Amino acid sequence: MCGIVAVIGSREAAPLLLEGLRQLEYRGYDSAGLATVHTDEGQSSGLITCRRAKGKLVNLSRLIDEKGSPGYVGIGHTRWATHGKPEIHNAHPHRDSSGEIAVVQNGIIENHRALRHSLVSEGVKFDSQTDTEVIPHLISRELELLKGEGQEINGTMLLQAVQRVSSQLKGAFALAVVWAETPDALVVARRQAPLVIGLGEGEFICASDTPALAGWTRTILPMEDGEFALLTPLGIELYNEEGERQQRSPSLLSGFDQVVDKRQFRHFMLKEIHEQPETAELWVARHLPRGLSADSPVALPFEESFYEGIERVQILACGTSRHAAMVGAYLLEQFADLPTSVFYASEFRYAAPPLAPNTLTIGVTQSGETADTLAALLMEDERRSAHSDPAFASRQLGITNRPESSLSRQVQNIFDIGAGIEIGVAATKTFLGQLLAFYGLALAFAARRSSRKPEEILRLAEELKSVPNYLRDLVKHHDQLAEHLAHRFSDTQDVIFLGRGINFPIALEGALKLKEISYIHAEGYPAGEMKHGPIALLDPRVPVISIAVPGVVFEKVLSNAQEAKARDAQLIGIAPKGPETEVFDALMPIPDVCEWISPLLSVVPMQLLSYHIAALRGLDVDQPRNLAKSVTVE
Ligand code: F6R
Repeated sequence: MCGIVAVIGSREAAPLLLEGLRQLEYRGYDSAGLATVHTDEGQSSGLITCRRAKGKLVNLSRLIDEKGSPGYVGIGHTRWATHGKPEIHNAHPHRDSSGEIAVVQNGIIENHRALRHSLVSEGVKFDSQTDTEVIPHLISRELELLKGEGQEINGTMLLQAVQRVSSQLKGAFALAVVWAETPDALVVARRQAPLVIGLGEGEFICASDTPALAGWTRTILPMEDGEFALLTPLGIELYNEEGERQQRSPSLLSGFDQVVDKRQFRHFMLKEIHEQPETAELWVARHLPRGLSADSPVALPFEESFYEGIERVQILACGTSRHAAMVGAYLLEQFADLPTSVFYASEFRYAAPPLAPNTLTIGVTQSGETADTLAALLMEDERRSAHSDPAFASRQLGITNRPESSLSRQVQNIFDIGAGIEIGVAATKTFLGQLLAFYGLALAFAARRSSRKPEEILRLAEELKSVPNYLRDLVKHHDQLAEHLAHRFSDTQDVIFLGRGINFPIALEGALKLKEISYIHAEGYPAGEMKHGPIALLDPRVPVISIAVPGVVFEKVLSNAQEAKARDAQLIGIAPKGPETEVFDALMPIPDVCEWISPLLSVVPMQLLSYHIAALRGLDVDQPRNLAKSVTVE
């Protein structure tokens, strides 16, 4: 899971590559590098300059300022280490032994060991521990063979070599290749990893994600799975896996993709937490317009046939998206009476349950690129397609913030959460967007299944309309409160989060947020589970953060909190103000709303507290160690 950028045009490539990489740094940031091809006047062959630096992109930027990297064609990479430590020799681009071929890759070459072994036996020397380095060596070998066949040295020859090498590679990857002998050609390829081509004026830029194209062009050509492209200053030649030339019209980037700016906020994460009222407002405007009825309480982008005959739902997701899926499952089961199971996508791939008929499979992924989620969905699609009984047919929905992502090209139906680009690695507003998507589905299914009285359905729709205003108050008031409370956590090493029912996944999400950005160990539990073991952990050094919302389990959660208090734990409540919630040592108050919509609000104090604890510790909130925004490896 890394970011790649490649450019070809009539301007110096290095500054453009650096700017593109800056926009992709969220994908990985342990080292970075670029290679450019420079041609001297009158020469047909060029020279490759390769610059690589360990650590954040700023180190590469300094290196380029100092040493330069000339040329109008180039490739760049920001790395999240998989094979080999984050060291300069493992940073991309990787080159063949002659230094004339340079490659950047995002993904994993699963058969790299066997390929390396065979190259080593032919006398090739490797400089890195990466899986990627086999690629330039293999391309070099293929180019020699093509030259031996008497072919003309040009971009087409490089394309052919890359095609031949790709057929030897197993795994999911996107790559970009330059060759000194064809200084006006750039070859890119993608297989199950994202790659988008941007069409500028007299230049092309390819990148793993659209923010890298922001400020440059709005005209894009997302590459399909298995495609290759040869880019020259004159144009694009696009080919499918079978080598057939493809003709496709470019599309336009949506406005959101253009905005990658922290505004007055110290971190993207804080900005994105503050954008949540807007996320909810847009959602309400889009999905709860005036004039809806109990029969049709929500406007979703699906035909009636989408709902027909669905008897159960299974949801596949990872991380935060899985927590949203858990709230979704609660809503679908408890509100819409639709049996629903949630799976870790990474587990589902290798231990899927027996097939059940009339099932909707939902993949939830904000990036739309998470390898485990995509692979689990694909596997489910394949095993259902192999079934002869139409009741077992594959019916899939993807919930994502990136409608142009790989997910969208893979599943039949997409629910675009429309939260706008999220740069902070820790998901916040996209989590809210995912939750809202599930509220929409729960309303739609409840109406069709008559699982709730019409007035209950309409009441939930009305409650949802108030969410933007509640959120506005919450972000305003809790920012300072969370900053103040964060001081209590200066020496904290472990935190327990408790929730129950619809708010149990929010406790899990609170713990994940804290772990991710502050590196404090945190666990989320259903409050009733505490006494079955975790209570042994409690002492005055272990704060307990408990979500207590009036409703089905309010008193139970308060009793569980009392149990923690009796063990001298410091108790922080996320609950409405009132006599019952005086049990807490500190309260992060949330409005006294109907329990159904409470997760949309209880998550905000969690996010702000995690943020301020990490910020107070001086940590890199937007780019926490070892993480990346888009996990495109298994
Ligand atoms: C947490 C976080 C991760 C992601 C997970 C899945 O803040 O961001 O846990 O939720 O990697 O990512 P997506 O939603 O892109 O599939």
